[in-house]
Order: sequence, then structure tokens, then C-alpha cells
Amino acid sequence: MPIRYGVVGTGMMGIEHIGNIRALDGAAVTAVADPYGPSRQAAREALRGQEIAVFDTHRGLIDSGLCDAVVVAAPNMTHIELLRDLMDTELHLLVEKPLCTRVEDCRWVVEAQRERKAVLWVGMEYRYMPAIARLIAEVRRGAVGDLRMLAIREHRFPFLEKVKHWNRFNANSGGTLVEKCCHHFDLMNLIIGASPIRIYASGSQAVNHLDERYGGRRPDILDNAYVIVDYEGGRRAMLDLCMFAEAGQNQEEIAAVGDRGKVEARLPSGVVVTGVRGGAWFSPEIEKVTDDRIAYTGSHHGASYLEHLDFLAAIRNRTPALVTADDGLLAVAMGVAAQRSIAEGRPIELAGAALGRPPLLSARSALHRAGQDAGDEEPLEGEEHDDRQQGREEGPRRQ
Ligand SMILES: NC(=O)c1ccc[n+]([C@@H]2O[C@H](COP(=O)([O-])OP(=O)(O)OC[C@H]3O[C@@H](n4cnc5c(N)ncnc54)[C@H](O)[C@@H]3O)[C@@H](O)[C@H]2O)c1
Repeated sequence: MPIRYGVVGTGMMGIEHIGNIRALDGAAVTAVADPYGPSRQAAREALRGQEIAVFDTHRGLIDSGLCDAVVVAAPNMTHIELLRDLMDTELHLLVEKPLCTRVEDCRWVVEAQRERKAVLWVGMEYRYMPAIARLIAEVRRGAVGDLRMLAIREHRFPFLEKVKHWNRFNANSGGTLVEKCCHHFDLMNLIIGASPIRIYASGSQAVNHLDERYGGRRPDILDNAYVIVDYEGGRRAMLDLCMFAEAGQNQEEIAAVGDRGKVEARLPSGVVVTGVRGGAWFSPEIEKVTDDRIAYTGSHHGASYLEHLDFLAAIRNRTPALVTADDGLLAVAMGVAAQRSIAEGRPIELAGAALGRPPLLSARSALHRAGQDAGDEEPLEGEEHDDRQQGREEGPRRQ
């Protein structure tokens, strides 16, 4: 029996999900829901020749009983209300990033998921981009030795037009460092495999959307930022985000450096550069990485298709999600903290108050995936640090 999928929100990303599901073996889209007529029509066209039920609310889709799994690809600010209803069912859920726009809502999802048996998976498909997946694998196999520094550069085009311009305002998207950069923070956590402890950021809205007005309001979203994250164990990561930089060759450039060597991944070129110290300088291995399993490329180098393969496998095999609600919470919390750092001009501690709850479950799951011992018996770091956190939050930390 094919797994029957519903898609809630059939704008740009919902249509990509439909393309992915159509390309999967043993899966079929049976229902879609979207309040916007043109998006419903886009779904009908993407599924032409197939019998599907079309609803204008998620409630109609849930009540239809036509689905085993649902993909949530509606605007960020709607995720929490949709999840409140969807998590009250036994449907398997793939919810697009960011999990929610607010940390407290993400925490609600984490708690609610503890009571559920069905899969809840957060759409973090950057992990699955072939060049990035290779970088992660190289770091895992020790190619760089003890990883000390991770730099992620995303230099890209401005935010695209969305249905009813929802992504132009922080209140809807959670802000650029949540909306866009939850991907980057998730990668940092996964690759470093330790807990983030502090975040410092500087950013602004310098170039984009300044002339636009919606209902008389000017968009308020950041278009550039530098973000530094300190991790436990003295590891550090940085993000260089520029959203008026489409004039370059690559959009993403990631560099992981340890005591033994360095691995870089570049997209869209798909190039991975691996070098070991001690040999001739500037003579790394250079490889263009692809993944033969990709049956649908979409707008994300086939990554969202690869993620669907794993989501489907988790449903079929009754195995846990590989991108969990905890992962989604941590990435959102880091984005929120980074934006707060910009607003307040100071570093933000990530344990305790900034997160509202210890994020360490996530880093632990990353460690478990890496086959390392995350130390199950130890208390969660956020719990350990909660009291000290009160003191830390009173003023800027001098570095
Ligand atoms: N993983 C990625 O790389 C990636 C890329 C793009 C977008 N996204 C995420 O996907 C989601 C959708 O983004 P998009 O780019 O497709 O936006 P979009 O504006 O193109 O489409 C959103 C659709 O959701 C519909 N919608 C609004 N409220 C709804 C509701 N209550 N129930 C059902 N549908 C509703 C809108 O009418 C619209 O058709 C967002 O969460 C976004 O952050 C993720």
C-alpha cells in the first residue's frame, strides 16, 4: 500500500514537496489544502491526471481521513496553529523549517511530540545537499581531525516574492536569522556535534526591500549579518549571510577546519575540497559530488527529495525522525538569540533564558547519529547552568 500524503500549503515549497512525493516509490499525494485559490490550482496542475481531494483548510484535509502523512508547507507563522491540530492526530508529519517562529511554540511542539508515536520531522534539507552531506561525512570520519572552526557563508539573492508577502515581515517569518538561518544553525549543531553556548551577531537591513510597501508598511527583515557561535569545548562557528550577493559563483561555501585538515563544500557547484595538513601546501583533493538516488531535483539540488526518502523510511520502518523537533527548537532558538544580539548589541548566552529550555537533547541526538558517546548519564547542560545563567543574563559578557 502506498503511503498517502497530504500537503498543507501548496505555494512554492508545497509544490516542490508534491514533486518529491510523486517521484518516490510507494507514495502518493491524496489531498492538499490551501486557502489561496491560485495555490490550490497550482497543486491541481502539479498533480494533473491523479485523483486528489482539494481543501481550503487543513481541517478539511484532516477530517477527510485520506492521509497517512502530512507535509506542512504553509507560512512560518501558521505552523504552530496547524501543528496544534495536526499533532492531535496520528498522522506522520514533515513540517517545513522553521519549526515555529517563537521559541515557546517550538517548546510546545517538543513536549507534544513526546506523547505521540507518529513521526514528526523538521524540513532541514540543507543537511541532504550532496556536497554538504559529503562534508558532514568527511568530518565524521575524522578527515579534519578535531574540528575547531566551522564557517558557513551564504551569499545569495534577496527573499523571493511569497503569497501575500508574508516573508517581508519579522512577525510572520520569525526574522531572517530564524527564517533563513535556522538551516545554518542546524548545520553547525550537526557538524560540530556539541552544544552551542553563546551567540554574538551584527546585522542590518541595508539594501533589500527598502522601497517596498505592504499596507503602508515597509518590510523590516535583515538582509545581512555576521553571526559567531561559541560551542562547548572551545569550538566555534560563524555565519556570513548576505542577501544581495547573487553576483558570485557559489551561494553556499562551508569550511570545516580541525587540527588535521580542512574540508570545504560549495554550492551550487557541488565541489568538495578536502586537504590534510603535512603534505604539500594548497594541493587538496577536489571532487564534484552528486547523489544518484535523486529522482527529483526541485530548487534545492535534490536535497528535499533525499530528505523525503528518509522520512518515508522512518514511517515505513517505524524508526525515529533524523531531524527532530528538538533540532528544530534549537535552530529557532539560535536564530532568535542572534536577532536579539543584534537588537541589544551584546552576546547572548544560549543555555537557560535565551532558549527557555535546555537545547541539549538535539546536540546529543547529533552525537548519537555520529556514533559517539554523548554521555547519557550526565545532566543536561542547560539544567546545570540555569542558575548561573540568571547572573550571566544581567549584562554583557566581556570577551
Ligand atoms: N526548506 C527550505 O529550504 C524551504 C524553502 C522555501 C520555503 N520553505 C518553507 O516552506 C513554507 C512555505 O513557504 P513557501 O516559500 O512555499 O511560501 P509561499 O508563500 O510560496 O506558499 C505558502 C502557501 O501556504 C498557504 N497558506 C497560508 N496559510 C495557510 C494555512 N493556514 N493553511 C494552509 N496553507 C496556508 C498560502 O496560501 C500559500 O499558498 C515556509 O515555512 C517556508 O519557510 C522552506
